[in-house]
Amino acid sequence: MLDQLSANDLDTLDDVLGRFIESQATRVTLDNLKEQLDRGMSEGSLELFGEKQSDEVVGLVAVGLSSNRIGLLFSGGNEAMDTHLFEFAYDRMRKRGGPIRVGGSWLTRSLIDYALNRGFTRFDRDYMIVERKTLEAIVSHDLPDGYTFANYDSHVKDSVADLIHRSHKGALDVILFPELFGSLEACSLLLRNTQDNRYGQYSSHSKILKHDGKVVGVILLSVVRENRGYIPDICIDPDYRRQGLGRLLMVHSLKHLLANEEWITGVNLDVTIGNYARNLYESLGFVKERGYPVLVMEGQ
Ligand SMILES: CC(C)(COP(=O)(O)OP(=O)(O)OC[C@H]1O[C@@H](n2cnc3c(N)ncnc32)[C@H](O)[C@@H]1OP(=O)(O)O)[C@@H](O)C(=O)NCCC(=O)NCCS
Repeated sequence: MLDQLSANDLDTLDDVLGRFIESQATRVTLDNLKEQLDRGMSEGSLELFGEKQSDEVVGLVAVGLSSNRIGLLFSGGNEAMDTHLFEFAYDRMRKRGGPIRVGGSWLTRSLIDYALNRGFTRFDRDYMIVERKTLEAIVSHDLPDGYTFANYDSHVKDSVADLIHRSHKGALDVILFPELFGSLEACSLLLRNTQDNRYGQYSSHSKILKHDGKVVGVILLSVVRENRGYIPDICIDPDYRRQGLGRLLMVHSLKHLLANEEWITGVNLDVTIGNYARNLYESLGFVKERGYPVLVMEGQ
C-alpha cells in the first residue's frame, strides 16, 4: 500500500533516504536531499509516495508535477517493489497527459529494461567535471570588436529567455526537458529557478554576451554546495555560432568564478549525449564524472 507523504514526514525517512544516498555515486547529502524534497512538496511541485512495511517506509517514489517525471525511485534492490512503484507513478503521470519522463543515476539496470519494454525511449546524459587547476591553466583571449560581456541581471531576463528559447529550438533537450526549454514561458522559468537557487546557491557569475547592444549569448553559472560551481545552461544565438564565442563566454565566466570564489575546487554541468556542446566542454577540460539515462514516453 502506497501512502502519500508530506514535508512533515521527512524526518521519519532518514533511514530509507540514507540507504538511497549510500546506493548512489553521488555527492548529495541527506540534508540536501531532504531540503530538495521539502521544497518540492511545500510548494506543490513534487509528490512523494512511500511503501510501508510494519509502519516503516521501505520504498519511495517522487514525481515532479511540472516535469511529469519520476525523479527518484528506491526500494533497496527489491525488483518487484521497483516495478510496483514505477507503475504507480506512471499511472499518475499518464492521467495528467503529455510526455512522461523517468531519469536519474538511481535507475537500475532492471528498471531501465522494464521501461524500454514498456515503450520508453532512452537518452543518455553525462554529469561532467572540470578541476580548478585545469581552468586556471586556460588562457583567456580578447573578444572581437563590437562584442562585450556583462553580468546577467533581471533587467535582461526577457531577452535572455528569448535567446534560450531560440537557441534550444529543435534540440534534444527540448524533448527531455520541455518544462525548461519548450516555450518562452518555460525558459523564463529556467531563469527564475536558477535565481531561486534550484540548481545550487545562486551567485552573480552568470554572464551575457552582447553584440552592438544585442544579447547574443548567456551562461548561467551557479555556485553549488560542496565547493563546486554548476552551469545550468549556456547558449549562443544561432546566427553567431561557430566563431569561438561560446568558448570565450565560458572561459570569461569561469575565470570570474575562480577569481571571486577561492574555495571553488571545480565546476560541474550536465549534457545530453548527442549535443555537440559536449565537444566545447571537453575542449575546456571537462571530463565525465558519471553517466545516467533519461527515459521518455511521448504523450498519448
Ligand atoms: C553549445 C553552444 C553554446 C556553442 O556555442 P558556439 O559559439 O557555437 O561555440 P564555439 O564556436 O565557441 O565552439 C567551441 C567548440 O564547440 C564545438 N562545437 C560547437 N558547435 C559545433 C558543431 N555544430 N558541431 C561540432 N562541434 C561543435 C567544437 O568543438 C568547437 O570548437 P571548434 O570550432 O574549434 O571545432 C551553442 O551551439 C548553443 O547555444 N547550442 C544550443 C544550446 C545548448 O545546447 N547549450 C548547451 C546545453 S548543455
